[in-house]
Order: sequence, then structure tokens, then C-alpha cells
Amino acid sequence: MGLSAFCLRARGLRFPILGLDCDARKIAIARDAARAHGPDLRFTVHDARDQLPAHDGSVALLDLLQYLDRGEQAALLRAAAERVNADGRLVVRSTLRAPGWRYRLSRAVDWFSAAVRWTLDAAVAYPTADWVQEQLESAGLQGTIRPCWGRTPFNNWLGVFARSGR
Ligand SMILES: C[S@@+](CC[C@H](N)C(=O)[O-])C[C@H]1O[C@@H](n2cnc3c(N)ncnc32)[C@H](O)[C@@H]1O
Repeated sequence: MGLSAFCLRARGLRFPILGLDCDARKIAIARDAARAHGPDLRFTVHDARDQLPAHDGSVALLDLLQYLDRGEQAALLRAAAERVNADGRLVVRSTLRAPGWRYRLSRAVDWFSAAVRWTLDAAVAYPTADWVQEQLESAGLQGTIRPCWGRTPFNNWLGVFARSGR
């Protein structure tokens, strides 16, 4: 629904943003809210399994990877990395596969979200932090992945990557 984009605008960041999601209901809500923000904030229905639009800047993948199979995750991470320019960042927030109750609870919530149709698809595969790191390093990025669950019970992780050598 564009919450990240609206947070960036609220913080005074004016760069163009294109938000993608395969759920037309959420895109319609985002577009409605974006009317007050001018033409540089756009939202489009897009399936992450299809080719990403051309882009040269930063990319954020938010709570998405688990809805793709392993091959689709690898293709998306590579395509996203290719769109990160010299000053850009690739931000990946995801539930990751890891031992412990947080992972089990996050899986249960994903299952529930699909059952009540908050998400259109059920989760397919949860990658590990090491695997995501390997994919992005082999695509020429460097960065770190760390827990970002804060005070929530969820197994959320945040990766921030940039072009090697910066
Ligand atoms: C857990 S939600 C997280 C999004 C946001 N944090 C929210 O609460 O609306 C996962 C999002 O990924 C989207 N999604 C799932 N599979 C997708 C795909 N193949 N391509 C694009 N978006 C997808 C869903 O429609 C959903 O909006």
C-alpha cells in the first residue's frame, strides 16, 4: 500500500519512487493516497516473477522473497542488484529461515495472512541470511543482513547492500 514511500516523503525525501505489488487492491489504495504527492510517486501492479522495469538507483524488496521459489528468488535478487547504481542501495527486508520460535511464529502469521486473503499467495520458501548474502555478493554487491524485529515477535531481517568497492 506504499507505506514505505509515504514515510520517505514524510521525511522530506523527494526522489521519484515506483512501488510494485502484484495485488491490485493494494496498488489501488496506494495510488489513491499518492494523489496528494505529485507525479513522482507511482504505483504499478507487477508480478515480481516477471522482468523488473528498467531502473538505475536504489531498490527495496519488502517482505516479498518468501512468496517466490528458490529459483525466482535468485532471479529477483540478481535483477534488483543490476538496477542498483554506484550511489544506490539494495534494501531487503524479509522473514528468513533461522532456528527458533520467531521463525515458527512468522510462518504461522504468513499462513494466516493467506488464509484471510490479506496476501493473495501463500509463502513458498524462506531463504537463509547466508544464501541471500551469497546471491547479492555474486551479483557484485556488498553489505550486511541483521535482525530488525525490534519489539515485535517476528523473525524480520534487514539487509542493506551497495556496489562493491564503495
Ligand atoms: C506480507 S505482505 C508485505 C507487504 C506490506 N508490508 C503489507 O503489509 O502490505 C507481502 C506482499 O508481497 C506481495 N506479493 C506476493 N507475491 C508477489 C509477487 N509474486 N509479485 C509481487 N508482489 C507479491 C503481496 O501482494 C503482499 O502485498
